[in-house]
Amino acid sequence: MKPALFIATGGWEPQSWADRMHALLPDRLILVQKSGSALQGPAERIGEVQYLLTWRPWQEIIDALPNLRAIFSLGAGVDSIMGLPRLPSCPIVRVVDPDLTSRMTEYVVWQVLHHLRHGLAYAGYQQGREWRELDQPAARQVTVGFMGLGAIARPAADVLQRLGFPLRGWTRTPRAHGPIEMFHGPAELDAFLAGTDILVSLLPLSPETRGLIDLPLLRKLRRTGALGGPILINAGRGGSHVEADILTALQDGTLAAASLDVFASEPLPADSPLWACANLVITPHVAADSDPDALAGQIAAQIEAFERGEPLRNLVDRQRGY
Ligand code: NDP
Ligand code: OXD
Repeated sequence: MKPALFIATGGWEPQSWADRMHALLPDRLILVQKSGSALQGPAERIGEVQYLLTWRPWQEIIDALPNLRAIFSLGAGVDSIMGLPRLPSCPIVRVVDPDLTSRMTEYVVWQVLHHLRHGLAYAGYQQGREWRELDQPAARQVTVGFMGLGAIARPAADVLQRLGFPLRGWTRTPRAHGPIEMFHGPAELDAFLAGTDILVSLLPLSPETRGLIDLPLLRKLRRTGALGGPILINAGRGGSHVEADILTALQDGTLAAASLDVFASEPLPADSPLWACANLVITPHVAADSDPDALAGQIAAQIEAFERGEPLRNLVDRQRGY
């Protein structure tokens, strides 16, 4: 029998992942557990597990697996793994995949166009049976600024560029200037914000990005743009923004509107005042879903390559936290 797998998920249903992995790696024991539910499989064989496939793991599950050779995140973001107090020293692999990326591209382009084309306002007019035209800026008049321009953001930026939007990006480390005007590090953040009309955050959550998007930051966005006020779109992580500040910004005009897919606490509590914001689009962390049919093959292939002595791809850098 080849080394065993453990699939452990917080929130997500693990069964479809287990079914796919069984089909792809039929000669392996696969133990499965959803947080808060019973373990499925022979618990006495847990010592045989060498690979953990996980979304939002919990400390007990890590502690129960002493022989891990690799941890595979079932998503692109690894903050829920990196945030655990104790982790084994094995490699941590995250998802970088065209399926996930296309989904994020759809979400970002959808929201940018929704705000460019006054989607919120027209939905309101329709409710009131009101035939009313708003001034319509062209894409070329609206600069989209990406906070975080990594694997999942870059293809969205490419599509927006083809639609005519001027683009800028802000990253941790310097990037070569191509068609996107690039800024990096805390010293260049203000300059990046000062020319941004629609701010798209696709930052990973790390100690450096936690709470970064607050009211003082939002006040630095360009206020003289063609949309009449800045827009925030966050599909990175809710921990990177301060929800009370976003609420204030949406109410006092610092932000003309926003789209949030991620929240500090998920599900967003029913009593959150954000639900009632007319100038906010809320989606329930669905910008780019991890589809087992699309992603399991990559994980199985990585396990088999690793066992042949080949290097793992898409490794998390523990030092930088993403
Ligand atoms: P990458 O690691 O490829 O890219 C991260 C980007 O963020 C890089 O450009 C990086 O800069 C930048 N960055 C990180 N820390 C800082 C910092 N302190 N200051 C400035 N820039 C910083 O990640 P992905 O693009 O694959 O994914 C990004 C995030 O998107 C995930 O971590 C996850 O949280 C979120 N996500 C959300 C989904 C959803 O459904 N809502 C789905 C999938 C992902 P540099 O280039 O210098 O390293
Ligand atoms: C991810 C996510 O990180 O879905 O992949 O949020």
